[in-house]
Amino acid sequence: MKVTRATFDDVMVPNYNPAKMIPVKGEGSRVWDQEGKEYIDFAGGIAVNCLGHCHPAMVNALTEQGNKLWHLSNVFTNEPAIRLAKKLTDATFADRVYFANSGAEANEAALKLARRWALDKHGAEKNQIIAFTKGFHGRTFFTVTVGGQPAYSDGFGPKPGAIEHVDYNDLAALEAQMSEKTCAVMMEPLQGEGGVISPDAEFVKGVRELCDKYNALLIFDEVQTGFGRTGSLYAYQQLGVTPDILASAKSLGGGFPIGAMLTTAAIAEHLKPGTHGSTYGGNPLACAVAEAVFDVVHTDEVLAGVKAREELFKSKLNEINERYGIFQDIRGKGLLLGAELTEEYAGKARDFLNAGADEGVMVLVAGPNVVRFTPSLIIPEADVLEGLARFEKAIAKIVG
Ligand SMILES: Cc1ncc(COP(=O)(O)O)c(C=O)c1O
Repeated sequence: MKVTRATFDDVMVPNYNPAKMIPVKGEGSRVWDQEGKEYIDFAGGIAVNCLGHCHPAMVNALTEQGNKLWHLSNVFTNEPAIRLAKKLTDATFADRVYFANSGAEANEAALKLARRWALDKHGAEKNQIIAFTKGFHGRTFFTVTVGGQPAYSDGFGPKPGAIEHVDYNDLAALEAQMSEKTCAVMMEPLQGEGGVISPDAEFVKGVRELCDKYNALLIFDEVQTGFGRTGSLYAYQQLGVTPDILASAKSLGGGFPIGAMLTTAAIAEHLKPGTHGSTYGGNPLACAVAEAVFDVVHTDEVLAGVKAREELFKSKLNEINERYGIFQDIRGKGLLLGAELTEEYAGKARDFLNAGADEGVMVLVAGPNVVRFTPSLIIPEADVLEGLARFEKAIAKIVG
């Protein structure tokens, strides 16, 4: 059956408006569409394809597990899930792991756990969740309400309550909101969707101190920053601050859907049997792939390579900017990078995404003013240079 982009509009719910071409094949950081046109992939499936497309380690893990056992549900456990949990706990602050299927589900579990922990330990009054303006935590009704863009949670009826927002990097505003009623503070250790915004080092430390002062849990949403994206397995490991609960997804599966919530044994024990769950969470195929991704990403070579690529991207983007003067800021960490457009091009980030695709390079936006780059963590230098050359052609067309 021949399907086209026009078929999409005939058969799909219109909540997405994908690009005009349909990619059909990928290898490393290159992708080809139905017409055979080639693209350099700087989007990485929105910070997911951390090893590019069809990495042999992932293909092998999936094929091997696919020939053994696909699914059991959580009525029975499975070896890949236990092995992956062991590797995650060995590599982080966490002692316990809960597996989900997406970032939103990992965050949903984190929020439910925080509320249950607070209820058990401190009583029903301690239920306030504080999060940050422009934050993004997923699209379930709880997570989207904790997210800091009301436009995403408006229009679906009564919202989950006791959720407050303050500006990111504004410690005084957070302090003014916090009290013994605060159950948890949820934050991204670098805001992705909100515009690629880094936290001030002092801010993150201050958030941790306030959580300690008021007996509140600190939840790090590392769905986008995690699994090597900023140059360490998790971003918290470079910030000198340890969260109580951490949500991981996206790069964790390298393209296979999986999410995970990591926490300490003392906190985990509040999710007793029957309190939470998922049919697919910890699925053997997903966990086998994630284990293979872990084995590649959690190496000095790959993590140091992320920093080298960050420098290459930033220096080349700065060179482009010297020629065209279209960016007022080039920022981000590791391979979660953003280029904020000048006033003249404000609101036009999507035009750059579209022009890039025409020239054979896939980029992302983070809000209306920021072009975002979240490529494979092992993208070859030649692909970075070729992709940025294509992106420069797209810029030249827009600037005229
Ligand atoms: C920081 C963060 N949290 C949560 C999510 C939601 O993840 P998912 O789309 O897998 O539910 C995203 C997705 O962009 C994200 O960037």
